[in-house]
Amino acid sequence: MSTKTARWIFYIGTLISLALFLVLTVDTHRQIQTLTHADRLSEQVVAGKRVWQKYNCNDCHTILGFGSYYAPDMTKVYWRRGSEGIKAVIRSPETFTTWRKMPRLPLTDKELENLVAFLQWTSEIDNQGWPPQDQKLRAGAGQAVALGVSPGAALYQAKGCFACHRLYEAGGGAGPDLTHVGSRLSYETIERILTDPRSGNPEATMPTPPLSHEERYQVGHFLAGLK
Ligand code: HEC
Ligand code: HEC
Repeated sequence: MSTKTARWIFYIGTLISLALFLVLTVDTHRQIQTLTHADRLSEQVVAGKRVWQKYNCNDCHTILGFGSYYAPDMTKVYWRRGSEGIKAVIRSPETFTTWRKMPRLPLTDKELENLVAFLQWTSEIDNQGWPPQDQKLRAGAGQAVALGVSPGAALYQAKGCFACHRLYEAGGGAGPDLTHVGSRLSYETIERILTDPRSGNPEATMPTPPLSHEERYQVGHFLAGLK
């Protein structure tokens, strides 16, 4: 190959790469409002982002790819834990975390509400699969919600039951697997457990779920239907 040909390959190659880079950058910027649901950026979400910064969650966690790799990525944590689940981890990290330690941080109730709104917003960003999340958890959470297509299934996710109970291979192992709980327990029994986990078994360690009367009815019927 002559020097001249090599030079042309270099120039044309560089130009093509530059053109591609520019087109993709412009294209991303054109879509960013839609992908991030910028219209849902409420004041509460912005306040939540400030809470995230104030307590330096990035020191240990990543979000949208930024931060440290010591602790799990938080971009889609709302899928995994739901609002009550996130609050529970932050209020008493020692109950939910493993050998890796998460510190107990002194967030006020208001800060916690704002933070959850921020994490719910990030969970809805269409980040086209990046950073990658635990697909199994996602599948389980999605399946549970889709399965019921019921408010009970959505509450199961939002109220943090996944933190301790497995459902279709997703969720923690601190409590029994609930995938077929309906074939073991009647609606009445489940409702009683949800009202007071110690009603049948004084040794029970499950915390009393943060559910109203109406919500217990919905979650109870969702679980009783899992045969
Ligand atoms: C000093 C490091 C550290 C800081 C700072 C920290 N965390 Fe964590 N966090 C951890 C570790 C480690 C875990 C995972 C522990 C385990 O389960 O192994 C964790 C777990 C979590 C979980 C549950 C994870 C999941 O995938 O379900 C949530 C939610 C969470 N952290 C939120 C926060 C928020 C919000 C902040 C800031 C207010 C914060 N953390 C600050 C270390 C930290
Ligand atoms: C901190 C962990 C934890 C959380 C969060 C939790 N549970 Fe439990 N759950 C347990 C444990 C542990 C048991 C086993 C009995 C006991 O020790 O309380 C249990 C038992 C149960 C049972 C009886 C299952 C059986 O097969 O006997 C049901 C139903 C149940 N939980 C539903 C829920 C629902 C619904 C939620 C969310 C609103 C929830 N749990 C949140 C830990 C938890």
